[in-house]
Amino acid sequence: MTGTAQNRPNAAASSGEDSRRPAPWQRMAAGGGLLDPSGQLRSTVFEEMTALARRTGSVNLGQGFPDFNPPAEMVAAAVDALHAGHHQYAPIVGVPALREAVATHQREHYGLDVDPDGQVIVCAGATEGMTAALLSLLQPGDEVVVFEPHYDLYGAVVEFAGATTVPVPLLPPAFVPDPDDVRAAFSPRTRAVILNDPHNPTGTVASREFKQQLVELATEFNAVILTDEVYEHLRYDGPHEPIAQLPGAAGRTLSVSSAGKTFSATGWRVGWVSGPRDLVRGVTAVKTYLSHSAAAPLQHAVASVLTSPTGFYERLLEDYRERRDVLVSGLHGAGLNPPMPEGTFFAVADVSDLYPLAGVQDAEGLAHHWAETVGVVGIPVSAFVGPGNRGLYSDWLRLAFCKRTDVLRGAMAGLVASV
Ligand SMILES: Cc1ncc(COP(=O)(O)O)c(C=O)c1O
Repeated sequence: MTGTAQNRPNAAASSGEDSRRPAPWQRMAAGGGLLDPSGQLRSTVFEEMTALARRTGSVNLGQGFPDFNPPAEMVAAAVDALHAGHHQYAPIVGVPALREAVATHQREHYGLDVDPDGQVIVCAGATEGMTAALLSLLQPGDEVVVFEPHYDLYGAVVEFAGATTVPVPLLPPAFVPDPDDVRAAFSPRTRAVILNDPHNPTGTVASREFKQQLVELATEFNAVILTDEVYEHLRYDGPHEPIAQLPGAAGRTLSVSSAGKTFSATGWRVGWVSGPRDLVRGVTAVKTYLSHSAAAPLQHAVASVLTSPTGFYERLLEDYRERRDVLVSGLHGAGLNPPMPEGTFFAVADVSDLYPLAGVQDAEGLAHHWAETVGVVGIPVSAFVGPGNRGLYSDWLRLAFCKRTDVLRGAMAGLVASV
C-alpha cells in the first residue's frame, strides 16, 4: 500500500516535539492505522482507493457515500431554515426540535425512553458523537473492547486518549465472534466496549446472544457500552434491535447515530448521542470544546424528517434492497459467493477464487487489478483490521452499494464480463 509521506513522526523533534514519546496526534494516527511501519503518515485507504478510481475512471464502490440526493423535503426544510434566520450558534446540546425528534424516534422505533433535556445531545455527525463519548470516558491505561474489522475512528480516538483497544475478531465467513474470545477480552481495566450494529464493513447484524453476552460482561466489569448505529435504518431482514433494549443495558449504554446514511446526507454532519443522563453530561462537556454545536439550519431540517415521513424508512429500505440485490447477483455472476448483507450498504466477498485469473495474491491486489482492468474499485477488508488479525481477512473485499442502480448494474456487467 502506498501513501503520501507528509511527516515523519519518528524523526528527531524539530518543533518542540518530545522525541522520547509519541505526540498525541501520532498516537491518534497510529490508532487509526495511518502510520506505516517506518512511522510515515500515509493517506487513508479510502483516499488511496478513491484516487485509484479517479485515475482509472473506475466506479468507486470503495467509499461509503451515496451518489444520489437526500429526500427533497429535507433539502426544502434546510432552505426554509436558512430563510427563517437560523444562522447563529445553535445550543451546545442541539436545537430543541431535533433533540425532541431524536427522543420521539427512539421511543417510536425502539420503545426507548430518553428525555430530550439531558439525555440527548446533537453532534457534528456520529464521528463527533463517538469521539466525544470516548474522550469523556477514557483515562490512560484503560481498555476498550472492539470487534475487528472495525471503523478506523475507534482505534484512533482510544489511542489518542492514552487507552488501548482490545480487539476481538469477527470470524469469517459468518463474521461472528467466538464467545470465549469475547469473555477473554474483558478485564478490570475495561472501561468501554464498542458495538457497531448493523456492522461496517461486513454488513452483518449482531445476534441477540452476542448482544446479551456484551450486556452481561459490561455489567460484570462495570463498562460502558458505546453503540454505533449509523446504519440503524438499513436492516433488511427485520427491524433493528438496539442493544439498549436489552434488560440491564440502557443504564450503561450510549447510543450514537446520525442523519448521514439514513438521509443520504453524509456532508451535513448532523448526528446525536442518547443515553443515561450522567454519561450524556460527560459527552456534552467534551463536545463543547470540539465543534461547540452542529450546523443550526441543518439541525432544523433533520428534525423535520426524522420522525414524520410516512413510509420514508420503508421506501429507503426497498431502494437499498434493490441496490443490494444488483450488487450481490453481480458478484455471483462473477463466480463469487458473498454472504447476503443483513444490514448497512456494504457487501463483502471472499475473492480468493479469482486470484489465479488475475495473477494476484490477496484482496488488495485484486482491488488494484479490478481498478485497472474492470473499472470497479472496492476496499480490502484488511484495511479495517490491526496487524494482529489482518491475515484473517486478506481474502475479503468490501463493496459499497450506496450508488444509483444504473451505476451498480454497469459496474457489475463489467465485472461479469471480465471472468
Ligand atoms: C460505522 C460508522 N460509524 C460512524 C461513521 C461516521 O458517521 P458520520 O458521517 O455521521 O460522522 C461511519 C461512516 O462511514 C461509519 O461507517
